[in-house]
Amino acid sequence: MESFSALLRTASREQHEEVRGSTFIGDLLGHKLGVDAFARYTEQLWFVYGALEAGARQLAADPVAGPFVRPELFRTAALERDLEHLRGPGWRRTVSALPATLEYAERITACARDWPAGYIAHHYTRYMGDLSGGQIIRDTAEKTWGFSKKGDGVRFYVFEEIPNPAAFKRAYCELLDAVPGDELERQRIVAECKRAYGLNNAVFEALGEEFTLIGRS
Ligand code: HEM
Repeated sequence: MESFSALLRTASREQHEEVRGSTFIGDLLGHKLGVDAFARYTEQLWFVYGALEAGARQLAADPVAGPFVRPELFRTAALERDLEHLRGPGWRRTVSALPATLEYAERITACARDWPAGYIAHHYTRYMGDLSGGQIIRDTAEKTWGFSKKGDGVRFYVFEEIPNPAAFKRAYCELLDAVPGDELERQRIVAECKRAYGLNNAVFEALGEEFTLIGRS
């Protein structure tokens, strides 16, 4: 029988291709957008990780989601340093969430409160993505906008406390494979993972609209 981690990966492959192929990501990585678009995207991530990491603190002792709570994954402090670099020291006064970002953050918060296994779906979708494809985004961002390598602006993509991401991902998959629950619960987690991709896609669409409009004006 396929392991749960493998099931999650194969079941969400189509959704992964969709976010990867989104216009906003294509334009961002294709040197078509300015650093302002990258900063706006980083702002949205700050709201998403705010919800994820508030959930993590609540769930640290939870029997189902607790084992996934690993402080070396936390991204909020890195995002705050990036935003300070990208927007300046007053970034908190101007930072704002798009409606799609609020919807995404609210779904994470609801799962953290009511359904720890559903929270795992969100945890997986973000952190495993950051440890994998996130490195491609970092590399492009450094080259496109001249950030220093692994420095301010792209610290979000640098997991300083995870020296061996491949080993970390293997251990993470073992945790996924050990998630308790019957087949139905596993299917529900897969569905939540697909929903998480959809919520990410909606943020990309909203960002795409914002930057197309700016481009035309
Ligand atoms: C520029 C956009 C992206 C690129 C180039 C990219 C690329 C990749 C690559 C190369 C992998 C590794 C596949 C493997 O180890 O077999 C990966 C894994 C992953 N990506 Fe992305 N990705 C992107 C965006 C995203 C986004 C936006 C999300 C979700 C919000 C995401 C979620 C994931 C997840 C969860 C995995 C782990 C799959 C697994 O091994 O279980 N990715 N990505």
